[in-house]
This record gives sequence, structure tokens and C-alpha cells, in this order.
Amino acid sequence: MCGIVGYTGPRQASRILVEGLKRLEYRGYDSAGIAVQADEPQTGAPLVVIKKKGKIAALRQEVPKDLPGHCGIGHTRWATHGGVSDVNAHPHTDNSGKLAVVHNGIIENYLSLKEMLEKEGAVFRSETDSEAIAHLIAYNYEGDLEAALKASLGHLKGTYGIACVHADEPGRIVGARNGSPLVLGVGDGEMLLASDVTAMLAHTKRVVYLNDGEVVSMLPHEFRVSDAEDRPIDPRIDHVAWELDAIEKEGFSCYMEKEIFEQPESIARALSGRLDGEYGCAKLGGLNLSKKELHAVERIRVIAAGTSWHAGLVGCHLFETVARIPAAAELASELRYRNPVVEPSSLYFAVSQSGETADTLYAMREIQRRGGTVLGICNVVGSTIPRESDGGVYVHSGPEIAVASTKAFTSQLAAFYLLALSFARMHDMPHHEGTRYLEQLKAVPGLVRDTLGQRDHVQAIAKRYSKAQDFLFLGRGLLYPIALEGALKLKEISYVHAEGYAAGEIKHGPIALVSPDTPSVFLVPNDHLREKTISNMKEIKARGGPVIAVAEQGDAEVMAIADEYIPIPAVDSRFQPFLMVVPLQLLAYFIALELARDVDQPRNLAKSVTVE
Ligand code: M6R
Repeated sequence: MCGIVGYTGPRQASRILVEGLKRLEYRGYDSAGIAVQADEPQTGAPLVVIKKKGKIAALRQEVPKDLPGHCGIGHTRWATHGGVSDVNAHPHTDNSGKLAVVHNGIIENYLSLKEMLEKEGAVFRSETDSEAIAHLIAYNYEGDLEAALKASLGHLKGTYGIACVHADEPGRIVGARNGSPLVLGVGDGEMLLASDVTAMLAHTKRVVYLNDGEVVSMLPHEFRVSDAEDRPIDPRIDHVAWELDAIEKEGFSCYMEKEIFEQPESIARALSGRLDGEYGCAKLGGLNLSKKELHAVERIRVIAAGTSWHAGLVGCHLFETVARIPAAAELASELRYRNPVVEPSSLYFAVSQSGETADTLYAMREIQRRGGTVLGICNVVGSTIPRESDGGVYVHSGPEIAVASTKAFTSQLAAFYLLALSFARMHDMPHHEGTRYLEQLKAVPGLVRDTLGQRDHVQAIAKRYSKAQDFLFLGRGLLYPIALEGALKLKEISYVHAEGYAAGEIKHGPIALVSPDTPSVFLVPNDHLREKTISNMKEIKARGGPVIAVAEQGDAEVMAIADEYIPIPAVDSRFQPFLMVVPLQLLAYFIALELARDVDQPRNLAKSVTVE
């Protein structure tokens, strides 16, 4: 995925564009560029286009501080078609250099378009699919950029968020969306356009979330939304609740660290207003299903990717054990292409921090197409999954900027704990148990804060093990998904190989990996699975493998066996996932620091993946 930004108004466009790109850098960070209309609009002077391989800092160096111009577009790229280079960076221009385009998404038919456009005289300079859009709009251009874009959209196959400018139309930016997010920011005598609201939060909180198939044309004082057939659309202006502080580092060295330490507050936000003490139940207003419909649910299915899938695995465990409803979590990328059976009595949840992950979105649409009901569990308000789902729960973790998901994960867990309680109270959980469950859930933010007190201890462990090339993360039951999450965090930001495994499965193969150089991180529960997990730990020790154990404080048996012991506060085993994941996030973070990795923007990745 990539980040798009556009600005038109009285201020210096280049500054606002580069600052907006910096905010969007988490979406993609291999190259970036801007195109600004020169400040002599009447002369129709060509655009100033500056593009640079590397991060936004590299682009910033290239942009003259006093670059004139009050209207322009910018882009930060995560490469799909064509390598990482200056020339492949966006914006892309037509032959005349008067028209510039930035694009997020994939144009599947770009080769046939290219062939056609080359016959018409277009000269392609990059290896990207996106350049075809610039030449196609130029081909259709007869003095009206909006009309030219609309004439072009029908020829594009694939996904796009597009923004374009033309030197002959001063102050105008035209954008279109199909499958890649685009938000319009309505300022005071100025307008912005961006892939998400973080790029415009410093300037306005009044936004219009564009829908697929919509086109926006904007000038500093006005905007118009219409469809590709030019039928006007009445836009709804929303107010963004996020504060600017939420997207600042606020004294932390990086966003991941900030977001790990923010978890007591973000979990509390996810629970806030949703605990019904009187009935020992959860209050979830946005499900859009009657009590009768919820009661009739026979099966639950969760679809998601990456960390969100791990939250879904925990959720399904809870649906089964707490609410006694059969449940399974599936990778969205797998579901879509396997001709799934969608039963009317099943309820589906699409889980996504960003609400834009293509795999999850397309799987959700496939389920809905077959008549299934899909509820979203998402963080980003106004993103595509919550808008297209049949209802759902916002997790309110606030903006998550680091590529590695941390606070969104624990907020997703909070949503699942609330949902499981709701279903359980409809079936066979008595009132007093519901009340007790609520009390325990209410205590979680404070216990997460206590667990964060292990910071220095985990850092010391990270220092000792940072040279290891392979790690195993092992857990059982509810802690198996947490083991998967620990391994993903480590791989993702430190580039160290890690396997997450069900602890009972290691004897079926992975135990062959155990050696004095391969640490195993064990998550030891305090329930009926404790003894089994300890036996698995002993099997590793017997084969010379170092063991790092996360277990309840004061567990003398674990302390005696493990080489390293990370204590977590005592809590009912059902709630241990919240606490167990924290030391794993810290371990990954500190190992990545030891290895001098770019923690917030690890190589090859992007925050949300809007391509399949
Ligand atoms: O925005 P989503 O939750 O849908 O994203 C899904 C995954 O791409 C995401 O969780 C990814 O695995 C994270 N980078 C993990 O930290």
C-alpha cells in the first residue's frame, strides 16, 4: 500500500505535502515524491515534480524550502510493480509534464493500456502500472481534468486511490477511489485529500470519507463529489475524534515503544462504556442485530490477517469455552479462494486494525455475497471494513502508527472478551459469573500497567539473547495464539527467524530445531495446562535448549527450570493473554533495538496491506 496526500489553499503546498507524507510514511516508505503547480497559473507553466528513492527525509532534502506553489499532490510508496527507484516513485506525469498522478493500488490491465497508449504516442519512463493512469487521463484530456479522469476510470481494471493535478487548472485537485482509501479534508479556505486522516489532522478535523466509485474535484473553497457518470453525490462531513497528540511520539523513542506503553489506556478505552455491571454483561451498541438474531447464532467464524488473526484465534477460543458456541478463525487470504460454505446460522467477524486490509476486505465481501452476515472489529473509524460490514465494534485504540501492531491487538482482545461475555450471558452463564468476569476484565488495564514494569528486566534478557538466529515461542490453549503473536513480532521488527508453535506439537517435529543457540520462549499458564507446559519445557531443557519462561509471579517451579523468568501478575488464566503478550512485545522491541533495526518501519513491510 502507499500514502497519498493533496493540498490546495493559500499556504505553501510543498510544506504541507511533505509534512503529510511524513504522517503517512508508515503506509509505505521506499520512495516518495510531490508535484506542485507552479505559481504562475495563468501561464499554464508545467508542474514542479520532485521524486526520491528512500524515506521522506530523503525527499525533504530535495525540496527547496521556499518552493512556491499553493496546490499539489504527494505520494509515499510501497513498491508493487517496478523496483524501488527515483523514476518509479510517484507522481507520474504525461508527455507534456503538465499532468501528474499519484496512485495507491494495482492496475491489473496496465500492460494492455500501455500498449494502446504507446501507439498513441505516450512515452513511458517508469516500470510502474501507475504511469499508465497519467497517460490515459492525458489521452482523454480536453481541458477538464475531472471529465478526463471520469472518462479514464472505466478503462482501469484493479484497485485505486488516485489524485491528480493539471498545470492548466490552477488550484484544482481531482481524486477517485476504488478499493484504496481516500479522505477529503475540509479546511477553512483550503482542502486536503489523503489516504487517511493522520495526514490532515494538523489542519482540519472535518472530513469526507469517499466511497468506492466516487470522484472528488476540489478547489480551495469548494468541492464536489460525484460518480463516474457525473451524478452528484451528497457528501457527509464527519468529525475526526483523534487528537493531534495521538500521532506524536510524546517523548518515546519510537511509535512502537509509545504504543506498547499506551496499552493500559487503550484497553480501558476499548472497555469504556461497555461494561454493564447491573446485568453482568457487555453493552455493544453497534452490532445491528437483535437479541433474537444473536441468540440464534449457531457458529462463529473470524476472518483476519497477521496480528488481527491472532486476536481472532483468542476470540474463537473464548467463544467456545466461555459462550459454548463453536468458533473458528481463518486467514482471510485463504478463505476467499476456497469456495467457502456460508451457513445462514453462522455469524462472521472481520478483524482489522486498519479496516483496509485487502485480504480481509475481499473475504468479507465474498461472505456477504453468499448471504453471510459480517460484523467488523476495527480500529480506524470510517475505514472500508466498518463501512461495508453489517455492524460491529470499534476498538478505539487510537492511531497505531508503528508497523508492528501492539495496542490494537490488546484492544481487539478486549472486544472479543466483551463479545464472548455477551454470548455467554445469552446462553448458560449465570449473572454472578458474568459480574465476576466483568470485574476481572475491568482489572486488566491496571494489570497490564504492572506487567509493563518488567521493562528493564526484559531489556536485559533481550541483550543476552539478541545474537540468537532462531527463536521458538511456545504456548498452549489460549496462549498458543500469543506464542504466534510473539514470534510474528520478533520476525517482523528484528528480522530474526522465529517460530510460534503449540507447545504440545514440538515433539512432532520442531524439537529437532532445539540447540544451545535456539532459545525457547515458553508461556506458562496457571490452569490445567500448566503441568503439560512445564513438561514441554523440561523436554527442551533436556536437549540443551535455553528457556525463557513467562509465568505467574512467584512460580518457584518454573523459576527453577527456566534460564530466564519473566513474572506477570496473578490473574485468572482466562485473562492471561492480555498480560502474556506484553513481555513478548517488549522482547521483540528490545532485540530489534539491540540489532539497530528500524523498529517503526521494518524492511519490506507497510502498515496496512491494501493489495492481495
Ligand atoms: O490492519 P490489519 O489488522 O488488517 O492488518 C493485518 C496485518 O497486516 C497486520 O496485523 C500485520 O500482521 C502487522 N504488521 C503485525 O504486527
